[in-house]
Amino acid sequence: MLVRLLYASRAVDTSPEAIESILNQSRQHNPVTGITGILCYGGGIFLQAIEGGRMQVSELFGHIQRDVRHKDVALLHYEEISERRFGGWTMGQVNLSKLNHAILLKYSEKPELDPYSVSGKVSFALLEDLMATANICGRA
Ligand SMILES: Cc1cc2nc3c(=O)[nH]c(=O)nc-3n(C[C@H](O)[C@H](O)[C@H](O)COP(=O)(O)O)c2cc1C
Repeated sequence: MLVRLLYASRAVDTSPEAIESILNQSRQHNPVTGITGILCYGGGIFLQAIEGGRMQVSELFGHIQRDVRHKDVALLHYEEISERRFGGWTMGQVNLSKLNHAILLKYSEKPELDPYSVSGKVSFALLEDLMATANICGRA
């Protein structure tokens, strides 16, 4: 049984090294547990989609919620799925500061990442758009 979960949070340490270390850790752990997904970062905010087995996603989200490297973890969307959407990434990465702001403006009032003020559906549509426009790096 596959599921997908989407959440938002606020980074505590916004240095590139801190983000890099989270990504490295994810890319090390996720192949072992069969988790795939993407992590978007911009303006101090994380938007992450994780998908995989129901128990594995549930367990990882438990760890993530207790992780002191971020705060205000908000569950945006959870669903059972028949296939993965981000199966090509152990943890794909999107650095929104390097993006054309038009893609953000397409889904929100201001050209910034603000998953706290839009629906989970809209945040997921943004992730799908980022994928369709090849804005995700770190394929592994
Ligand atoms: C924004 C964010 C995203 C994370 N994503 C993942 C992930 O995809 N996979 C993962 O194993 N850990 C991820 N972590 C790290 C986990 O919170 C946790 O540190 C890791 O699973 C190891 O847990 P443990 O030290 O209790 O074994 C993330 C942490 C943060 C702050």
